Amino acid sequence: MTESLNRIRAFLADREPPTPCLVVDTDLVAARTAAVAAAFPDALIRYAVKANPAPEVLDAVLSAGAGFDVAGTGEIELCLSRGAEAAELAYGNTIKKPSDIAFAYTRGVREFTTDSAGDLANLAEYAPGSLVSIRLLLTGGPDSVTPFGHKFGCEPSVAATLLRQAVDAGLRPGIAFHVGSQQPDPAAWEIGVATAAKVAADAGVGLARLNIGGGFATGHREPVPSLADYAAVIHAALGEHLPGPGPELLLEPGRVIVADAGLIRTEVVLVTTRAATDERRWVYLDVGRYNGMAECENEAVAYRLEPVGVKGPEGPVVLAGPTCDGDDVLYQRTPCALPMSLRAGDLLDIPGTGAYTASYSSVAFNGIEPLRTYCVGRFADAG
Ligand SMILES: Cc1ncc(COP(=O)(O)O)c(C=O)c1O
Repeated sequence: MTESLNRIRAFLADREPPTPCLVVDTDLVAARTAAVAAAFPDALIRYAVKANPAPEVLDAVLSAGAGFDVAGTGEIELCLSRGAEAAELAYGNTIKKPSDIAFAYTRGVREFTTDSAGDLANLAEYAPGSLVSIRLLLTGGPDSVTPFGHKFGCEPSVAATLLRQAVDAGLRPGIAFHVGSQQPDPAAWEIGVATAAKVAADAGVGLARLNIGGGFATGHREPVPSLADYAAVIHAALGEHLPGPGPELLLEPGRVIVADAGLIRTEVVLVTTRAATDERRWVYLDVGRYNGMAECENEAVAYRLEPVGVKGPEGPVVLAGPTCDGDDVLYQRTPCALPMSLRAGDLLDIPGTGAYTASYSSVAFNGIEPLRTYCVGRFADAG
């Protein structure tokens, strides 16, 4: 990772691109993809494009032999345009129009996820014979940092019914779950695997697929389990609950492949105090919740902050973005300290920001352009 950061910082020093910007090391993306494949040698790896859809990132993922988890027609087009085979795509979004399904099927996509009778009926009609995994709603497990709530997945009894309906409709049946993104507890997958095995047994259906989603966490201020730690728990759960020649395993990792490969450089716009009784300075950056730092919503992800060339004693700060929106505050409860000498015009680096930053960035809120992405490494010029 040091090598990767050195490459990114050398690019920033050499090119001095306008801030804010995200720089992604594509060599690390390829290496992380390979590391996931090595930890799960019998699984299909489908990188979740939503984490970072930069063409160079997709090229790096492809070079490491993985395919893609796509959320919609635009991502299908993008992946195919980078040379992915349709057979390497899994349409993981359970919310789709019949026209989206028909488009995907026409393009050759044959793997989908669903969690409702309506969508299942559409899949049977517009994607006949496809592999369709029923997404489970997992409740009562450990919380992830950015959970999905109740938006996706169905309860086990509903899933068992949908599984049987899928078979009756001539579809190849599977089960999917996602334990929530940035999930620091490997035990969450144990619950998912056990629930999937029970649902399949209750439905009396042999599974063609078990899709265990993404969710693998990356370290920011706190350490997280390694890929080997996650793999050990997941393989033990599979051995216990789905022994023998079980379903083919599929993973949809996003964050763990690209987060550490990215670094955002931002400029300090203003440093001020807001109340005589509050010693904390307010530090306003040119990056905020609408142009890259979306995962600071509810202060979910606590990124590290590294001043560039500014040193000396530190004091507490509240960190905020540049827009006129009152919610565009990054951290006011999460402790943050920056040098007392920090001034407008100084630069900060925010490492670990390759995932869910540029892809969440708005187009022109307050007239601010989306976060620009630059790539370094072997795949940098492919875009
Ligand atoms: C269906 C699906 N699969 C995979 C992912 C990727 O998850 P992560 O980035 O936590 O690995 C997501 C993230 O939102 C998702 O919605």
